[in-house]
Amino acid sequence: MIRSVVRGHGAALPKRVMTNKELEGVVETSDEWIVQRTGIRQRYIAGEGETTASLGAQAARAALDNAGLTPDDIDLVLVATSTPDNTFPATAVDIQRRLGMTHGYAFDMQAVCSGFVYAMATADLYIRGGMAKRVLVIGAETFSRILDWKDRTTCVLFGDGAGALVLEAQEGKGTISDRGILTAHLRSDGTHKDKLYVDGGPSSTGTVGHLRMEGREVFKHAVGMITDVIEAAFAATGTTAEDLDWLVPHQANRRIIDGSAKKLGIPLEKVVVTVDLHGNTSAASIPLALSVAASDGRIKKGDLVMLEAMGGGFTWGALLVRW
Ligand code: ACO
Repeated sequence: MIRSVVRGHGAALPKRVMTNKELEGVVETSDEWIVQRTGIRQRYIAGEGETTASLGAQAARAALDNAGLTPDDIDLVLVATSTPDNTFPATAVDIQRRLGMTHGYAFDMQAVCSGFVYAMATADLYIRGGMAKRVLVIGAETFSRILDWKDRTTCVLFGDGAGALVLEAQEGKGTISDRGILTAHLRSDGTHKDKLYVDGGPSSTGTVGHLRMEGREVFKHAVGMITDVIEAAFAATGTTAEDLDWLVPHQANRRIIDGSAKKLGIPLEKVVVTVDLHGNTSAASIPLALSVAASDGRIKKGDLVMLEAMGGGFTWGALLVRW
C-alpha cells in the first residue's frame, strides 16, 4: 500500500526574540509567573515584512533543501494557519507563488492549534488517493498580530513562526513497520466555540479581531481530549506508549504537555518540548518542534513518533508516523 513518508523538514522563525522580562514592560506580569504557569521563557515576534506567507515560504524552502528536492517536485502545498496574510487568496497560494511554482495546487486549512495534525491527515488522504505524489505540509502563524497586547492573560502565551514537512508517496507493506503516516484521529466539538476564539472576522464584524480565551476552561478540557485521541491512535495500530520513540505535542503549555504524558505513561525524556523557546505558535508549533528534534538528531529515521494537538473550536487530533 501507499504510505505518506516524511522526506524533509524545515523551520523559520522571525528575527526578533521577545523574552518574558521584556513582557514585564508591556503588561503587569513576571517572568516567574509565566514560567511557572506555562513553561514559556521567550517567543519570536514577526517584524515588518515578516508575515505568515514569508515565514511559511522560508520553512518550505528549508524542508525542500533537507529533502534534496525543488519546488518542481511538489504537487500540493497545504498550509495550516489561522493568521493568513489576507482573507483570500489562501496563504498556500502565496507560498506557491513565492516558491516560483505555477504547477500543482495549493490551499489553506483552518483548525487553529490542531491545524497541522489536520493538514497532515488531509495530505495523507491526497497521497493515498493518488491526487498527489509529494506534498508540502506547512504550519505557519503570526499570532502576535491578533493578540490584545493589553490582555496579560493571553499576550504572554503566543508567538510567531513556521515549520514544514515534505511528504512523499512510497510503497509500504501495510504494517506498522512501514515508514510514513500510520493512523490519524481527528475530533472537533463546536459547542466550545466561545472558550477560545477571535472576536472579529470578515463576515461578522468586518475587522480582524483579537484572540479571546478562557484559559482555565481550555486547560480543564485539554488533557482528557489529548489522551483520548492518542489512545485511539494506539488502539488503531496495536501499539502502546512503550513502542513510542517520541511524543511531539502541540506546544501550548508545559503543564498540559506534562499532564498528558503522565496520564499516558510516556516518560518525559521521550517528549519533545520547545514551548520554552517558541511559546505557543498554534499550527506552527508541531512542525517547528519536529524540525528542532530531527535537526539535533533526536528523531531518527524509523522512529515511531506521535503528534497531538488541541485548540480553538475545540478541535483536537493525534497522528502516528514512523519517521
Ligand atoms: N501574569 C501575571 N498574572 C496573571 C497573568 C499574567 N500573564 N495572567 C493571569 N494572571 C493572574 C490572573 O489574573 C489571576 O489572578 P487573580 O487570582 O488575582 O484573579 C491569576 O493569575 C490566576 O489566573 P488563572 O487564569 O487561574 O491562571 P491559571 O493557573 O489557569 O493559568 C493559563 C493561566 C496559563 C492561561 C492556563 O489556564 C492555561 O495554560 N490554560 C490553557 C491555555 C492554553 O494552553 N491555550 C492554548 C491551547 S489552544 C491553542 O493553542 C490556541
